[in-house]
Order: sequence, then C-alpha cells, then structure tokens
Amino acid sequence: MAIERIVSTKDDEDPIEVELEITLRPHDFTNYIGQKRLKQNLQLAIAAATKRGEPLDHILLYGPPGLGKTTMATVIANEMGANIRVTSGPAVERAGDLASLLTNLQDGDILFIDEIHRLNRSVEEVLYSAMEDFKLDIMLGKGPTARSLRLDLPKFTIIGATTRTGALAAPLRDRFGMIHRLEFYTPEEVQQIIERAAKIIGIKIDEAAAQDLAKRARLTPRIANRLLKRVRDYADINGDGIIDAEISTQALGLLEVDDLGLDPADRMLLMAIIDNYQGGPVGVETLAALTAEERSTIEDFYEPYLMQIGLLERTPRGRKVTHKAYKHLGRKPNSPDGQESLL
Ligand SMILES: Nc1ncnc2c1ncn2[C@@H]1O[C@H](COP(=O)(O)OP(=O)(O)O)[C@@H](O)[C@H]1O
Ligand SMILES: [Mg+2]
Repeated sequence: MAIERIVSTKDDEDPIEVELEITLRPHDFTNYIGQKRLKQNLQLAIAAATKRGEPLDHILLYGPPGLGKTTMATVIANEMGANIRVTSGPAVERAGDLASLLTNLQDGDILFIDEIHRLNRSVEEVLYSAMEDFKLDIMLGKGPTARSLRLDLPKFTIIGATTRTGALAAPLRDRFGMIHRLEFYTPEEVQQIIERAAKIIGIKIDEAAAQDLAKRARLTPRIANRLLKRVRDYADINGDGIIDAEISTQALGLLEVDDLGLDPADRMLLMAIIDNYQGGPVGVETLAALTAEERSTIEDFYEPYLMQIGLLERTPRGRKVTHKAYKHLGRKPNSPDGQESLL
C-alpha cells in the first residue's frame, strides 16, 4: 500500500475536502486563473456557437491531475448558460448506461465524462455515432430476431477529461472538435490562486508566505489549496492564525515538502534510480516495482511534475535522472565506470 501524500494530486474522497474543492472552484473565465491560451480558444468557440445558436463542439481536456479540467468543464457550462451532467469512464459500465444518460439530455446540454480513457470498448462504440450524428444505435433482442433501432438524440456537447490522450482510442479522439492540453501554472499564477482561496476561506496570509507556498505547490492548483489548508492548521495551533513566511516554512518542513515541492516519496523515487541504476535510464515498470506504486500512479502523479521542473527526463530507453536532480538531492553523478564524472 502506497503512502498517503500531502502533495498528491489525486481527487479527494474525504467529504470535507470535496466540499472545500467545490467552494474554491471558480465559476467563470474571470476567476479561472491562468491557462490563457485555453481560455482564449474557448471564449472564441463559445462566442461563435452562441452567435450561430448551436451547441459547442465536443471538447477534450487533457493534462496532469489537479490542473483544473473538471473546473474548466463547469466554467464552460456556466459561460454557455448550459446544464451540465457529470459522469466518468468507470461509472458508465454498459452501453445501456450511456444510452440512458444520452436520452435524458436536452438540446444544448453538456455531458462531462471524467477519465474518459477508462470507458470500455462497447460503450465507446455507442458514443461514436452519438457524438458524430446525434444518433443512438441500439440493438433490441438477441439472435435471429434481433434488430437495430436508430434514435435521434438532442444536440449535446461532450466534454471529456483525461490525464493522457495517448490512452484514448484514436476513433474517439477524432470525434472531438477541440482538443486542449492544460499546462502547469506559473508560480505567479499559483500565488494568485492561493491568495484567492485564502480570501474565500477567510485565511490571513502575507505575500511572502503566499509566494513560498506557491513555490512548493508543484505548479498545481489542487496542491496549492491543500498546502494552504495544512499551513493554516499549523498557524492556528502554533501562531496567532496569521500565516507569514516563518510559519509556512516551519509547517512545510514538518510536512517534509522541500523548496521544489518534492515530498519524501519523490525523493525516494529519484534516489532509487540513482542508487540502483546509476541514474537510469530505467523502464517505468521498474520504477513502479521500486516504489511499490501502480504504473499509472508513476505516470500520472510523479512524472509530469518531475519532468516539468527538469529533474527527470524521458529517453527512448527509459527514464533518466538529470544533473539538476543530483544537485537538488546533494548527490554527485557518477559515470558508468564508477568514476566521478566531470559534469
Ligand atoms: N485556474 C484555476 N484557478 C483557480 N483555482 C483553480 C484553477 N484550476 C483549478 N483550481 C482549483 O484546483 C482544484 C482542482 O481542480 P480540478 O478542476 O478538480 O482539477 P482536475 O479535474 O484537472 O484534476 C479545484 O477545486 C479548484 O479550486
Ligand atoms: Mg477532475
């Protein structure tokens, strides 16, 4: 069993955390910080669709967890003035489940399918003609008496979210009119997100502390909000409730989140590659075995950020630790023959 990580980007299951995420979710483009290019593209598409009186094209949002895909889906619905229904790949088990979701939609509705790469094949196939022609093909009965029926569907929009487009079947991917990647945020944007969240929950935080938290939040809003909350808890007990740089540094030290936002699990992963494989390259399956994590956890939760900040790189032969990582961990890179390299 993997350890619970404060810097995890996994969706929260704790009801209090879920409630908080909903409270902090921006509802319109103005409050949705960052992702400028994505917002511009969507604003244009929304204006055009509205002008023509048509529903939006189907939209696929992809990128690492915690960057704001679900949030963006609800922002789009608000900006369109549309109803949104929310489901996920694993929740739609059979073609019949999808059929009932689709037939209950109305013109202009949005159906948000989270983790769309986890839809099973039979459901996916029903989705193809639904997305393309707004028709639903269903089979009635079995064997020689079976016949197919074609139903008209309302003109709806699918917004799909996935951590990896590579995991999506090509025919499904092709049916999205817009495919957008969410980027990591800049530290300045994360700071704005922290300051906005602090205001909403009523937390007093000074600028230096917000800056410090932003630096360690892995360029990810979900983690920024979570760190803010944990530091607030610390400030309530160990200070006067106001978060300044001293308090935030102490609290994050206690949580073992370092100044690049790495926690013990990240450091363990990098160290394992250094100590057991001279820094790599090493296959992702090996990394999974070394850390006792699922391969998908390595790919979704560890790697994107470590690569973004240049501590880990992907080569054709596997993952490699960079010199920056050696430096950050206070280790010296060795050449393959065991001699210390000149780098
Ligand atoms: N652009 C943003 N501006 C402000 N807060 C954001 C932004 N994107 C995400 N958040 C916050 O981060 C949390 C996680 O975002 P979410 O949309 O659930 O991520 P994803 O679906 O990509 O995993 C949300 O609760 C929201 O409060
Ligand atoms: Mg989500």
